[in-house]
Amino acid sequence: MNDNTVIISEIKRLIGGRQPLAFVRSFGCQLNTSDGEKIKGLLRKMGYGFTEDEAQADLIILNTCAVRENAEDRVFGIVGSMKKLKELRPDLMIGIAGCMTAQSHIAEKIKKSYPQVDFVLGTSAINGLPRLLLDCLNGAKFSADIAEYDDFSAEAEQVRESSFKASVPIMFGCNNFCTYCIVPYVRGRERSRRPEDIISEVEGLVRSGYKEIMLLGQNVNSYGSDLGGEMSFPQLLRRLNAIDGDFWIRFMSSHPKDASVELIDAIFDCDKVAKHLHLPVQSGSDEILRRMNRRYTAEKYLGIVDEIRRRGPDFSLTTDIIVGFPDETEEDFAATLAIMERVKYDNIYSFIYSKRTGTKAAEMPDAVSEEEKGARMRRLLELQREISTEHYKRFIGRRMRVLADDVSKKRKGYVSGKSSEFIIVEFEGDSSLIGQFVDVEITEAMNWAVRGRRVKV
Ligand code: 5AD
Ligand code: SF4
Repeated sequence: MNDNTVIISEIKRLIGGRQPLAFVRSFGCQLNTSDGEKIKGLLRKMGYGFTEDEAQADLIILNTCAVRENAEDRVFGIVGSMKKLKELRPDLMIGIAGCMTAQSHIAEKIKKSYPQVDFVLGTSAINGLPRLLLDCLNGAKFSADIAEYDDFSAEAEQVRESSFKASVPIMFGCNNFCTYCIVPYVRGRERSRRPEDIISEVEGLVRSGYKEIMLLGQNVNSYGSDLGGEMSFPQLLRRLNAIDGDFWIRFMSSHPKDASVELIDAIFDCDKVAKHLHLPVQSGSDEILRRMNRRYTAEKYLGIVDEIRRRGPDFSLTTDIIVGFPDETEEDFAATLAIMERVKYDNIYSFIYSKRTGTKAAEMPDAVSEEEKGARMRRLLELQREISTEHYKRFIGRRMRVLADDVSKKRKGYVSGKSSEFIIVEFEGDSSLIGQFVDVEITEAMNWAVRGRRVKV
């Protein structure tokens, strides 16, 4: 553990009277958002307040994502536009954190082409932030801390974005090396957090009134494989389910190759575990799955789906799909559409394949044009719209328990939330319901949500 106490008091001394403001923006997945909350936790300790307006900020931190190229391009666009801000206010400090910084060619590019950037903070070096800020405040031109995966931030304090939904990382890194994916290169190998740390964090959150706990990891199903058999993921679910209180447990993501009968048993045995599984299929073609190094076939995947449906016909499944993996044929793509029709996902997160330097897939030949990939994506989205509209009808006339999330942006006087199945539910109500569980009787199904009326129980 790196002790920041002395550095933090030195920073407070240098900052002096006025409270400085920080603008922290996280991109990408929920693990990255969780890192952003830890960055904010450290900044609060150093005396910073927060602003949503970058023009008001004394410190800007972009917590970046490297999974697809367009996310990186957006960050470069934003950093480029900050040049003016920095010219107007040379005291402004700008830092880049997150997964982009772990790729050496990107770190080089930032250093060389974006002199407005003062520091670079690696994904496992969050606790090094006070040191970097102190260097900057003392006039350093450029500092970087991209320490290797020591995760001393795992138990860090955080400034949470929500007062009723909390993310709890249970592990870091990934061992799977899917051939398209940059994550194992930027987040390192799998490391599980200690079970007692996770349990006490969740107990604390439930005591403070949190209603939804989202357990996070790149592949939660292999949680504990580095803990010498002390606790597996299904055992962790059962242990967390035993905590007193009215709350839901969700988790993300599950690799299909590791989805076991023990996991399915735990989901159905535990009343607090949401009846939804995000099970990324990526493709329905065995040949593409093989080239992706996913280590399951469409048949094996469907075996898990059938077992879940046998136990809970209404159980909700969502997935991730990559369209246009190198040399994906029309036949391969048709197999993806076929698996979507067979599984009937409630929702899908689909992405056009993005070439990531350093991954195996980046070396594979690819004869499919960008136009063709775009056309396939449109066909896939159209099919999913039809499936969702039809499939959501199963809820009409039923009662769903919903955690109210926000006032509806589309319909005045309405509130939206998510059911245990992770379906968006809209109903009449006002902001006083936000953060509460509400029972809703479903009257209508659309392709992106269901609607209903609130009922008292
Ligand atoms: N191109 C497109 N999508 C990708 N994903 C991961 N890497 C890539 C890539 N190179 C998608 C996968 C994964 C999700 C988080 O992002 O579908 O499940
Ligand atoms: Fe990437 Fe595959 Fe690991 Fe998910 S399981 S983070 S897709 S390598």
